[in-house]
Amino acid sequence: MVTASAPGKVYLFGEHAVVYGEPAVPCAVERRATVAVEERADGRLRVDARDLEIEGFTVEYGAATDELGVEVPTELLEAATEYVDGAVEQARDACDVSDVGFDVTVESEIPLGAGLGSSAAVVVATIAATAAELGVELDPREVATRAYQVESDVQDGQASRADTFCSAMGGAVRVEGEDCRTLDAPDLPFVIGFDGGSGNTGELVAGVRDLRERYDFAADTVTAIGDIVRRGEAVLTEDDPSLDELGRLMDFDHGLLEALGVSSRSLDEMVWTAREAGAYGAKLTGAGGGGCIVALDDSPATETALSYSQSCEVAFRAELARDGVIVP
Ligand code: MEV
Repeated sequence: MVTASAPGKVYLFGEHAVVYGEPAVPCAVERRATVAVEERADGRLRVDARDLEIEGFTVEYGAATDELGVEVPTELLEAATEYVDGAVEQARDACDVSDVGFDVTVESEIPLGAGLGSSAAVVVATIAATAAELGVELDPREVATRAYQVESDVQDGQASRADTFCSAMGGAVRVEGEDCRTLDAPDLPFVIGFDGGSGNTGELVAGVRDLRERYDFAADTVTAIGDIVRRGEAVLTEDDPSLDELGRLMDFDHGLLEALGVSSRSLDEMVWTAREAGAYGAKLTGAGGGGCIVALDDSPATETALSYSQSCEVAFRAELARDGVIVP
């Protein structure tokens, strides 16, 4: 049996705009999906993904409810299975086998569909663990490319390479179309607030596409997000990046995402709670519609304020994950 893990991520800048060829800067965070894979003699694939949890918030795939009694949307459960199936298929392809079966056990500390790259982390860890079980150690860049293929298939061609590249490589990365690079960035003090919900990535991406086609000013908004990313990347890679400036750019990015219709009342409320508690800046992360915000803050005040806020189910600090996919 082989076990591999891969981190989730937050978007420092650039979600949604990255789908239209603008750059994005996601950062891997120390919340991991861990996947154990063992070859089976009968050629069948069995997936056990019952233990997907975030502190104080356990999602049971089998029971389809979390410990707070909230129902996990069926489409998330179905999508999770599709992601694992696709990942195993990619690993089989990389190892030139077609009829080998596996037991796959998925555990994750990353909430599903909440903007922290849960599906990318599961796919990256599954590909790496399955290939390793077949005796092949894949390069993280190959894992990233294959994981992107899985996300793209499941999301009807609407995925960018950002989540999968970031999860496979770790650290801060820059993604612009097919050009994916790692960045030399310092540790950043992230605080994450999670409203307990999730957004539908496909619908949210389609909504932005529609606005962009209908209104020139929506297309300009997408381009402006790209400008923020370029500016943010320059600040991030300075010797001693200004947290004030990064935070200001995060605030700006959130405002533009809100204008594109992908925020929500609970995300906005958490963003304002973090700002009022003194965070350098705060924004939604990922597709939006519900899920998580990320704030930049080096004092405990934001985490405390978020944990008392009505919209927030869980707040936690998250370190930048230097390691991407790990196959021990
Ligand atoms: C979803 O995590 C981020 C989006 O930009 C879609 C993508 O990049 O695939 C909304």
